[in-house]
Amino acid sequence: MELLNKGKAKSVYKGEADLIIEFRDDLTAGDGAKHATMEGKGALNAEISARFFELLDEAGMETHFLGYEKPNRHLAKEVKIIPLEVICRNIAAGSILRRYPFEEGQEFTPPLVEFGFKSDEYHDPMLNDEVAIALGAVKDRGELNRMREMTLRVNDILRGFLAERGVILVDFKLEFGWDRDGNLLLADEVSPDTCRFWDAETKEVMDKDRFRRDMGDVLEYYREIRRRVYGD
Ligand SMILES: Nc1ncnc2c1ncn2[C@@H]1O[C@H](COP(=O)(O)OP(=O)(O)O)[C@@H](O)[C@H]1O
Ligand SMILES: [Mg+2]
Repeated sequence: MELLNKGKAKSVYKGEADLIIEFRDDLTAGDGAKHATMEGKGALNAEISARFFELLDEAGMETHFLGYEKPNRHLAKEVKIIPLEVICRNIAAGSILRRYPFEEGQEFTPPLVEFGFKSDEYHDPMLNDEVAIALGAVKDRGELNRMREMTLRVNDILRGFLAERGVILVDFKLEFGWDRDGNLLLADEVSPDTCRFWDAETKEVMDKDRFRRDMGDVLEYYREIRRRVYGD
């Protein structure tokens, strides 16, 4: 298979008609400065992410997802990735606490949507609409607004689904891209690597923050997320 792109956590191959995205066991934090491999992480993320994409597809959202192949592959439509990270926050946690005087755990009503420039070299800086357009990441504000709307829709769908399973969706990061017919699709992954999940009862951290903050038991909590998402 032809390798198109090897990122920090996934390898993207050209399949017969579409893409094969292989979720690897690599975990990174701090733009790749911190790295580990944890056996089984890729499979867990692929399985969890597949369930979320299925839910979004059922709700009529346009995504790149075509299917899940056990243990750690997705089939997906190839898109031209927009070099922006779209972050949606329901609760204050992580980097936003270093930028503004929010209290950890405070709720954002309505949720906040922020855009970052997807660049390890520049450390994914936040940007406003003008900068995103000047960089050529998008054509105009209309495109940013479509991503905002889709992101809030993802939030509504996943937040409710997870709440029923005792998980708080604290925040998450999405990537979008353009397919060859000019459709805007949700791409990449939705997993404990790219979301913050807290247990609704205990407020325990159930995501990659366990790795970032050296809290231990990273995969135990990924497994628990998988279990709750599949209800088994
Ligand atoms: N449908 C898709 N078409 C093309 N590229 C994609 C698609 N979905 C995800 N990607 C890209 O695959 C790459 C590998 O993923 P990942 O390992 O998460 O990379 P990163 O190091 O940028 O986080 C990323 O650049 C991501 O934007
Ligand atoms: Mg990534």
